[in-house]
Amino acid sequence: MAIITTEWTGTEYFPITEVNHLEFYVGNAKQAVHYYRSVFGMQPYAYAGPETGQSDRVSYVLKQNKIFFVFTTPLSSDHPASDWLKKHGDGVRDIAFKAECEKTAHDSCVSRGAESVYESESTKDESGTYRKAAIKTYGDTIHSFVNSNDYNGLWEPGYITLELPDLKFEDPGLLLIDHIVGNVEEGKMNEWRDFYEDVFGFTNFVVFDENDISTKFSALKSRVMRSKNWKVKFPINEPASGLKKSQIEEYLDFNEGPGVQHIALLTDDIIKTITALRNNGVDFLYVPDTYYDELSDRVGSIDEALAPLKDLGILVDRDDEGYLLQLFSKPVEDRPTLFYEIIQRKGSRGFGQGNFQALFESIEIEQERRGNL
Ligand code: FE2
Repeated sequence: MAIITTEWTGTEYFPITEVNHLEFYVGNAKQAVHYYRSVFGMQPYAYAGPETGQSDRVSYVLKQNKIFFVFTTPLSSDHPASDWLKKHGDGVRDIAFKAECEKTAHDSCVSRGAESVYESESTKDESGTYRKAAIKTYGDTIHSFVNSNDYNGLWEPGYITLELPDLKFEDPGLLLIDHIVGNVEEGKMNEWRDFYEDVFGFTNFVVFDENDISTKFSALKSRVMRSKNWKVKFPINEPASGLKKSQIEEYLDFNEGPGVQHIALLTDDIIKTITALRNNGVDFLYVPDTYYDELSDRVGSIDEALAPLKDLGILVDRDDEGYLLQLFSKPVEDRPTLFYEIIQRKGSRGFGQGNFQALFESIEIEQERRGNL
C-alpha cells in the first residue's frame, strides 16, 4: 500500500513559497509558442531576443492565470542550450522558485551540499533591480531562485511585451502548476529524496513502490517531496524491474538521463478544461472503456456525472481526504519524454495512485506501438 504522511517533519531553512516559472529549452521557440498558445491556451506575455539586445538566444514568456512558461531557443551552436538540446531534445531546463532573497536561498542550499550553477546575479533597468541565483538538481535540470522584490517591470530586465497575431483556441482555464515530476535512474530515487529533504528541508509525503504500481510488464517506485505550505510538490520516480521495459526506463533512454517527466496543471472544472483541450487538439492517453465499469465501486459517489467523464476519458481516484479527477496527455514531443497531467482536486492531496494500474496498461499500448516495450 502507498504510504501517505500528511504531517510536516521538514525544516524551513529559508522560505519557499511557490514555483515562479518553468523554463524550457526548445529547438524552435517560435513554433513551440504557437503550439502552447493554440493547444494549451497560454497567452503571450514577454519576449527577449536580438530585438532587445540578446544576440545569442530568444526567450518567450507565456502566461495563463498563475502559470508562467518560458521558451528559450539558442541562436547558435556556441550557446550552452545547444548542447543541452542535442542531448535531451526539448524539455524543462529550470524549475524556478520565487525567493525572498536569492542569495540566502542559494547559499543555504549550497551549505547543505547543493551544487551551484551561478551565485547571486543582478540586472537593472528603469523598473528596478532583478536578482537571481541557481543550483543544480537531477540530470541537467536546475532550480533558479528569483527575487523580484525590487523589480516592477514586466518580467526581467531586457524583456518587452510579447505581441503576436491573434489565434483561435478554447480557453481551458488552467490555474496553476500543481506538481512537477522528475524521473531518475534506477537506485537513485532515495538519493534525490534525501537531496530535497537535506537541501530544501522538504518532507517525504507519499511513498509508493512496485507493489502499488505495476502491471505484468513494468513498474515504478515514487517518493513525493513537498514544501511546508504544500505549494511545491515534487514526485521523484525511478524504474522498478518488470518483465519488459518500464515507461520510466523509456524516458531515461530517450532523454539520455534524468529530467522532468510531467507537469501537472490544476483546474477547478476539469470537464470544461478537458473539453477545451480536446477541441484544441491535445492528444490524451486512451482510457479503456472498462475503466468506467468499476469506477463507482472504486470511488463511491462523486459530484460529476459518469457519462461526461467517460466521454472525455477523465480518471477518478479517492483517498481518505477526498477525491481527485485527472487525465494525462501523450508526450508532447517526438522523443517520448515530457507529458502533461490535468488535475482537479476535491479534497484529495494525493496523486491518483489508484489510477496508475489502468494508466500503465494504456501507456504500454503506446510503448508497444513505438516498439519500446
Ligand atoms: Fe502527476
